[in-house]
Amino acid sequence: MESRAIPSLMELDTLRDLYLHELKDLYSAEKQIIKALPKMVKAASNRQLKSAFNQHLEQTKRQAKRLEDLLAGHGESSRGPKCQGMEGVLKEGDEMIGEDADEEVRDAGLIAAAQRVEHYEIAGYGCARTYAELLGDKKGAKVLDTTIKEEGAADHKLTKLARSVINVKAKAAPSKSSRAKNKREQSMVSGALKDFVKKVTG
Ligand SMILES: [Fe+2]
Repeated sequence: MESRAIPSLMELDTLRDLYLHELKDLYSAEKQIIKALPKMVKAASNRQLKSAFNQHLEQTKRQAKRLEDLLAGHGESSRGPKCQGMEGVLKEGDEMIGEDADEEVRDAGLIAAAQRVEHYEIAGYGCARTYAELLGDKKGAKVLDTTIKEEGAADHKLTKLARSVINVKAKAAPSKSSRAKNKREQSMVSGALKDFVKKVTG
């Protein structure tokens, strides 16, 4: 079996340990998203999608700060193992950026990748909020709830954008073979036009 380094492990004896572990995991996820979003902004073609990603970048920075403050309130730093789940989800998004794709189809793919990110986060935040409630951390539960609502709204916004514009345009995108055919036809027409102009102008 392949041996690999085990990321620094936390002792998880109590629900509080697990709560703090989840908060650190979410923090790692948010930090990775902060790095990934500018690349998604750049890769997106649709202006509304670019602006949705940009807005979510600013929101994500605030969400990371909330986690930092929450952990500090519990006497903990935000340092912890890298969230490997988010790393994988973001890697898929990164692959989408690198695909040889029609720009409208790529936009639809970027939305699919971003919605996976939101759902992954919502799952993690939902668990953390439940632990906060059980542990009597009212302030924590409230802060986490604010973030869950933001993630939900971001997800909803992407669904709306996909359904109203982006998926529709992606559906209308020509296939690679018909794009090549159009190009060939265009060059034939322009060739014929050039010949005609040459004949006329002598
Ligand atoms: Fe987030």
